[in-house]
Amino acid sequence: MIQAFLSLILVFALVVPALAGNVASPIPIGVAVASTSNVALFGEEQINGAKIAEAYFNAQGGVNGTPIKLIFQDTAGDEGGAVNAFQNLIAAKVVGIIGPTLSQQAFAADPIANRAKLPVVGPSNTAKGIPQIGEYISRISAPMTVVAPKSLQKALGINPKIRRVAVLYAQNDAFSTSETSVFQEAIKASRLQTVTIQKFQTTDTDFTTQVTAVLGAQADLVVISGLAADSGNLVKQLRQFGYRGLIVGGNGLNSPNMFPVCGALCEGILVAQAYSPQADLPINREFTARFEKAYRKSPAQFSAQAFTAVQVMVEALRKVEKDTKKRITAMDLAAVRTATNKALTSGVAFHTPLGEISLGREGEVNQKQFYVSTVKMNPGGKTGAFVLIK
Ligand code: ALA
Repeated sequence: MIQAFLSLILVFALVVPALAGNVASPIPIGVAVASTSNVALFGEEQINGAKIAEAYFNAQGGVNGTPIKLIFQDTAGDEGGAVNAFQNLIAAKVVGIIGPTLSQQAFAADPIANRAKLPVVGPSNTAKGIPQIGEYISRISAPMTVVAPKSLQKALGINPKIRRVAVLYAQNDAFSTSETSVFQEAIKASRLQTVTIQKFQTTDTDFTTQVTAVLGAQADLVVISGLAADSGNLVKQLRQFGYRGLIVGGNGLNSPNMFPVCGALCEGILVAQAYSPQADLPINREFTARFEKAYRKSPAQFSAQAFTAVQVMVEALRKVEKDTKKRITAMDLAAVRTATNKALTSGVAFHTPLGEISLGREGEVNQKQFYVSTVKMNPGGKTGAFVLIK
């Protein structure tokens, strides 16, 4: 009898805190990005950047003395993988989610977090319409409407004789279709002629049809919206078949993990970027030094954006503690999620490796500084760098 009573007390002691739903310590933050599939070319960079942020902010005391813990979930490259990862993270009682890698995945997975009233910070989603998915959805990745036209302007600066533009894009990917419409408008606005529009799939490896069309149309500029593996192969085949003009790549080509795909033939691709490792900002110096020490290479945009996503989440959690005068770990999980979302989108300035940014009420990022770089491959053609064009 006494034994039964004692086990009842034990069960009660174990179950009640879980029912009370307080936030765990260390504070769990979900990271849902691709560590498998072709999208892992981006995801690997994101994981690297997020891990640097976790160590960096915990070394500063985390959230006013309570450390954070990143919980990684692989989204792979499709919508189902992202939905699964989000569901696992919701079950793991995270305070917020950083992810997913692709806009295509965000349109499927973000509504689930939004319904659960769980803040999501998109670290790399650049399609139109991401923050509009819902109240709990924001992003630190500037949309392509802001970024993409800058590379086109640079191309015209390098070669003012450009008139005939070939546009290519991955038709099965939401970000690529969104980005190409931005490029196509910018091409029209610059009074250039679009001589061919070619579609492909992110899973394609043979681009003979598209390359033949580009050469047949005598394009003197090629503009590509796709992901890293497909776009890398497309660039390679354009050059192998004899295309000599400039190539402008969208956000999907903004990854050093594309370099092994097109090798020496990546040389000269122009890309607009929301980050430069050379930005002379205190937090960027800290970030790049730690990143270079850990991975023996300099961070690219996907890594810096993942760091930034962790940073804004940590700073929002600190603000929640300051505003409520309560420890996050003494608060109810649902209350923390809602308060964190408010803090994220309160318009406060975050001083990040991307420069000063803020998130508007709707969750859209305001960012001031952008860059355009060109790819320079090293002898041997296996490694290279994005070199800033002034
Ligand atoms: N910027 C890419 C997207 O939004 C990765 O899908």
